[in-house]
Amino acid sequence: MSTKDHPIVIAIDGPAASGKSSTAKAVAAELGYRYLDSGAFYRALTLAALNAGLPTRTWSSLTTEQVRNLAVAATPVGAGYDLSIAGAPVGDEIRSSRVNAHVSRLAAVPAVRGWLLDALREAGRDGGLVADGRDIGTVVFPDAELKIFLVCDPEERALRRLRQRGRPEPDVRQIREEARHLLERDRLDQSREIAPLIKAHDAILLDTTDLSLDAQVGAIVRLARARARP
Ligand code: DC
Repeated sequence: MSTKDHPIVIAIDGPAASGKSSTAKAVAAELGYRYLDSGAFYRALTLAALNAGLPTRTWSSLTTEQVRNLAVAATPVGAGYDLSIAGAPVGDEIRSSRVNAHVSRLAAVPAVRGWLLDALREAGRDGGLVADGRDIGTVVFPDAELKIFLVCDPEERALRRLRQRGRPEPDVRQIREEARHLLERDRLDQSREIAPLIKAHDAILLDTTDLSLDAQVGAIVRLARARARP
């Protein structure tokens, strides 16, 4: 049985910096699937809202029309999607601390989630997709053939995040500060009313604290091969 002949949808959810993106990207590459980073969509919308000067206190009542007017678009390119705002490609700015500080607020807005749901589901229509986020296994693809919920110790997550940002040897104070930001984002994502961060009942829990990237990718690829549709 092959994951190529019988493409499935793999949903990978988990808290901030638990390794979802790097894991999902590597699993997709290994299986020859497309990779969908749903957090990048929320990040692009947040950047667009900030750049448009929409006051953050008004975000909770944004309408679908206002969300559409932010002009965020996704184009399938290679094994992933390129995101743009008003036709201009988004760059690393969607990963900036400015966007980090506001993205959970925008992600809790009903019109934002409703608008994105259709876009994300369209991407997974034909299977052959690895999607990562917070509500992929619970809301976006509740019928995904394989659901993984990644967890990781907060200080280990903070360390990985700081290293990604080019600080190979952060000190304890920096690690604790980063862990505090991550836990605050988790709290907001877990406590919102719509599509909160929660493990789907049928998701497999994978703790990556002591796992290498290769080990976690290998574990998910094996599960995917076992679950490919006959
Ligand atoms: O995975 P990330 O850190 O790039 O996600 C950024 C934010 O987007 C996260 O704090 C919550 C939101 N998000 C969400 O609400 N639902 C998703 N499926 C993906 C991300």
